[in-house]
Amino acid sequence: MTQDELKQAVAQAAADHVAEHLPAGAILGVGTGSTANLFIAALAPIKARLGGAVASSEATRQRLEQLGIRVVDMNEVERLAIYVDGADEIDPGMSMIKGGGGALTREKIVAAVSDTFVCIADASKQVPVLGRFPLPVEVIPMAARQVARQLAALGGTPKLREGFVTDNGNLILDVHGLAITDPVAMETAINQMVGVVTNGLFAARGADLLLLGTAAGVQRLVRN
Ligand code: A5P
Repeated sequence: MTQDELKQAVAQAAADHVAEHLPAGAILGVGTGSTANLFIAALAPIKARLGGAVASSEATRQRLEQLGIRVVDMNEVERLAIYVDGADEIDPGMSMIKGGGGALTREKIVAAVSDTFVCIADASKQVPVLGRFPLPVEVIPMAARQVARQLAALGGTPKLREGFVTDNGNLILDVHGLAITDPVAMETAINQMVGVVTNGLFAARGADLLLLGTAAGVQRLVRN
């Protein structure tokens, strides 16, 4: 199977999970990226049972609206039963690197109010240790250089994502060369740096359920 077919399979599995577990009329959290886009398309047959959706990016908001799904402002929502999103890497403890598409801050905000984070990923995203994929860090523009120096002191090589501005008007530093053996500690340490909005480690709040696309079918992995 191609990577796109694996993504399609997990997107459909996630739509089936939503149809089975999301209470009728409830609001769904929807992530960003190529796998999340396939998930949005797979929502078409069940859109009538959704009360609406919270979008983790402007791109996702547009796709949901094109499909006729009402997009609800995050500030109107207290809790979400289910949030479905992709990942750039996921480790055996269900910690993730996200933000390859640059939507990490809004994704983390939506994840924080969600009871169940359903990660949808093809098998290439599963890794023993996070860090081969460069870790995205969203920074306030005036702090970019000082944050880059501190990230270098952690052992990584930060590179400014050229020509990219986040939905929040900020910059992204992609940190190469980190071997992230303690994702919670690394997430916390980077978020302490003045000028960092957030970083792409989802470890303090990782995934609860992983739908992993493999050649043998979609595997369901639940966090211990
Ligand atoms: C968006 O900012 C990211 O967190 C994506 O969820 C992540 O990069 C996965 O994207 P793909 O499904 O396109 O690999």
